[in-house]
Amino acid sequence: MPEKHHNPKLPWAPGSLPLMLAPMQGLTNRALRGLFIERVRPDVVFTEFVRVKASVRKNITANDRQEVVSAGGGVPLVVQLIGADPEALLAAANTVQELGAEHLNINLGCPYGRMTSQTAGGALLREPLALARMLDLLRREIVGSFSVKVRSGFDDPAQIFSLLPLFADSGIDFLVLHPRTVQQLYRGPADHGLTAEVVRQTPLPVIANGDIFSAATGQRVLAETGAAGLMLGRGAIADPLLFERLRGRYPSESAPATMDAELREYLQELLTRYQALFCGEHQILCKMKEVLCHVHAPEVLPLARQLKRGKSLIQFQAELSSLPDFMLFECKKS
Ligand SMILES: Cc1cc2nc3c(=O)[nH]c(=O)nc-3n(C[C@H](O)[C@H](O)[C@H](O)COP(=O)(O)O)c2cc1C
Repeated sequence: MPEKHHNPKLPWAPGSLPLMLAPMQGLTNRALRGLFIERVRPDVVFTEFVRVKASVRKNITANDRQEVVSAGGGVPLVVQLIGADPEALLAAANTVQELGAEHLNINLGCPYGRMTSQTAGGALLREPLALARMLDLLRREIVGSFSVKVRSGFDDPAQIFSLLPLFADSGIDFLVLHPRTVQQLYRGPADHGLTAEVVRQTPLPVIANGDIFSAATGQRVLAETGAAGLMLGRGAIADPLLFERLRGRYPSESAPATMDAELREYLQELLTRYQALFCGEHQILCKMKEVLCHVHAPEVLPLARQLKRGKSLIQFQAELSSLPDFMLFECKKS
């Protein structure tokens, strides 16, 4: 296994095993990140991807400009860029650095439509030469840490092994691996056997990502892969306490009644934050429902379903503060 030295640019402390909140478009906006930072303090948080357009001079939207500077509570914020045009990405990297961004990441995994048709995101894996040129160009301008978030390949999971020298030669500081191919989308399990092999073959720190929905799985992935840390996506959106469960500071699983209360408290606080950030009842409800789409635990599924049916904020809030089903049952009994 290549020897791994701690690089001072990394957004985590030497010797620690960082737990990161994944970038998630539509979800990890500054309001949600703020809640996570206050409640469970991820070691590193990421922005949603910042789309970099080639055609316009102001290639980052006004909202994205606000997103990239709002690091909170001393938790390092990694700004993720996605785009096809190297010059435009370079200009965007300089803009976000001028705005205060310290850590930059390039999305090499997004499997969806507009991105892959433009040779951005996951589609860049089909163009390794262009990718190498892009990373070299960016590395020269990025002062702080520079990382990539990558799937295992475009259509072949072994492709990652041919990309590792390219990443190391481009001066990347760490990589985040979601071990599924771009074409696979979310089908089949994330292959952390492949993560372990990548860790063995590259001198770069590797952050393991994909299908970590419980503390037990997270601990197993860390032990079996030797990864430098974990990135939590859907599992953390459903249950922010997953960070604390993994640290052993909170029970690894909660009792059903506690799960219900935890979910209500989380959503109540998120709603308050979304009401401050977003405009209009429709948008706020949609944003809350995007979070609920990731809640699948059978113990809280009836509550999640009921909330998703809410047609107004008043209805949503009433449901959120109503007595949980198990309490109604207790009341009827007594
Ligand atoms: C709704 C949604 C939005 C996502 N947005 C992004 C994004 O903006 N950038 C990115 O690199 N990955 C994005 N991803 C992928 C996640 O960061 C993560 O790699 C993937 O969900 C696997 O991790 P998980 O199983 O812990 O969710 C997104 C995933 C979902 C489900």
